[in-house]
Amino acid sequence: MAGDLSVRGVSRAFGGLQAVKSVSLDIASGEILGIIGPNGAGKSTLFNLIAGQVRPDSGTVAFEGQRIDGWAVETIARRGLVKTFQTSRPFGSMTFLENVMVAALSHASGITAARRVALEQLETVGLAGRADVPSAWASTGQRKRLEIARALATRPRLLLLDEPFGGVDLPSVDSLIQLLQQVRTTGVALLVIEHNLEAVQRLVDRLIAMHLGEVIATGAPEQVTRDLRVVQAYLGASEAPHA
Ligand SMILES: Nc1ncnc2c1ncn2[C@@H]1O[C@H](COP(=O)(O)OP(=O)(O)O)[C@@H](O)[C@H]1O
Ligand SMILES: [Mg+2]
Repeated sequence: MAGDLSVRGVSRAFGGLQAVKSVSLDIASGEILGIIGPNGAGKSTLFNLIAGQVRPDSGTVAFEGQRIDGWAVETIARRGLVKTFQTSRPFGSMTFLENVMVAALSHASGITAARRVALEQLETVGLAGRADVPSAWASTGQRKRLEIARALATRPRLLLLDEPFGGVDLPSVDSLIQLLQQVRTTGVALLVIEHNLEAVQRLVDRLIAMHLGEVIATGAPEQVTRDLRVVQAYLGASEAPHA
């Protein structure tokens, strides 16, 4: 099925530190799955293991039925599994449109096609009006949208978002949730790491909680955020959940 992912028993250590311990998860076509957990839980490492930036010590990752663990990031991205960065880094001197065109060029057949795809994606994320403005002028909310437009321009079927709501003000959180739900209706599956529990609960179909490299709870968002182990994990990390 398009965009489906199957992670089985994936582990990764850095020196003596077991950052991810035998994690398994599945994402169905067009599903929105959230990952929560206190700092250092292993969320970003898990993303890097899926997207190919980090190789697993053991376990397997399969995308659309094919094993991709050990593949290069670019090869995985070309297959339709794309990760956006925790801190978005658009090229400030380039316009919004040019930034998205650069991403589109990885797939489009030429400049004209890339321009068309880029305009289409700026429209999708509500930034068409900013097309010719230097991206250095973007607000935090606009930068997040630009990052999503750049990712969409590569035509992904599974999009990995690392803290998309980080630093986004309250009104922008609402419109970002709407945008991501709209992206899902186009058949793109989403895997979302998020610190803002209130926002993530409104966005996802299912939630996975991680702590010290392991999955400690999985299920419906309201179930997982109330799970005693999850609450204790956040308290132990002396940072209360935001919800
Ligand atoms: N490249 C790396 N080298 C060494 N340690 C790392 C590396 N990446 C992550 N870690 C460690 O792995 C643990 C999990 O980190 P991370 O996956 O970033 O957690 P999270 O995203 O949940 O905050 C942390 O203790 C972190 O310091
Ligand atoms: Mg992280």
